[in-house]
Amino acid sequence: MNIKITNLTEDNLKDAPEWDSHPFSCKYCIYWEYPEECTNPATEQKEEMFAKKLGWLQRVTKEFGNCGKLAYVDRESVSYAQYAPHHYLPGSAGYAAGPPSDDAVLISCLFIPQAKFRRLGIGGRLLRSISDELKQRKKTKAIETFARRGSSDNPSGPVQFYLRNGFRIHGGDKEFPLMRLDL
Ligand SMILES: CC(C)(COP(=O)(O)OP(=O)(O)OC[C@H]1O[C@@H](n2cnc3c(N)ncnc32)[C@H](O)[C@@H]1OP(=O)(O)O)[C@@H](O)C(=O)NCCC(=O)NCCS
Repeated sequence: MNIKITNLTEDNLKDAPEWDSHPFSCKYCIYWEYPEECTNPATEQKEEMFAKKLGWLQRVTKEFGNCGKLAYVDRESVSYAQYAPHHYLPGSAGYAAGPPSDDAVLISCLFIPQAKFRRLGIGGRLLRSISDELKQRKKTKAIETFARRGSSDNPSGPVQFYLRNGFRIHGGDKEFPLMRLDL
């Protein structure tokens, strides 16, 4: 299996993996970026959602720097990850364990839609690629994310995945604790 990880750009956003159920693809989902406009996107709204996501990506890339990654297996796009300081992700204000720390970058999404590509180490590789990049950029002290207890159905996945990758629980909440990895 040949796994390749690339930075997310305005050119490859369109390659983010698609699937059959809500929200169709991370490239159409604006849950974190524009929470007040985030509805269950109907097929006909895909273009509009994509344009909003692209605008967000362009702005954050320009102001903060690289803010996402795609993972490919044998040239097939299989996973999408997105991260930024929390003020670029206003949806984070809705979490009881927050707010995320000002010295951290928040992973809002890390998702492998097709079950056949899960538990093969791809998520772990994406996480390492994000932490390696942020360490090199030297402006960030930590990575945080709202993980979920008792279920993996969550934009960035379950608590167990983050504990396994060196994160600790930083902000308590029964269902969605804030996890933190100091760089
Ligand atoms: C969570 C996710 C990102 C993890 O990526 P992954 O490539 O599958 O994970 P890895 O293979 O790197 O896992 C490393 C370790 O993390 C832990 N882990 C990973 N997924 C887990 C899960 N679902 N439950 C419990 N522990 C998990 C395990 O300890 C695993 O090691 P093991 O496979 O040897 O037991 C991925 O499985 C995923 O996207 N799942 C779907 C989540 C979902 O429904 N999201 C909704 C988004 S809107």
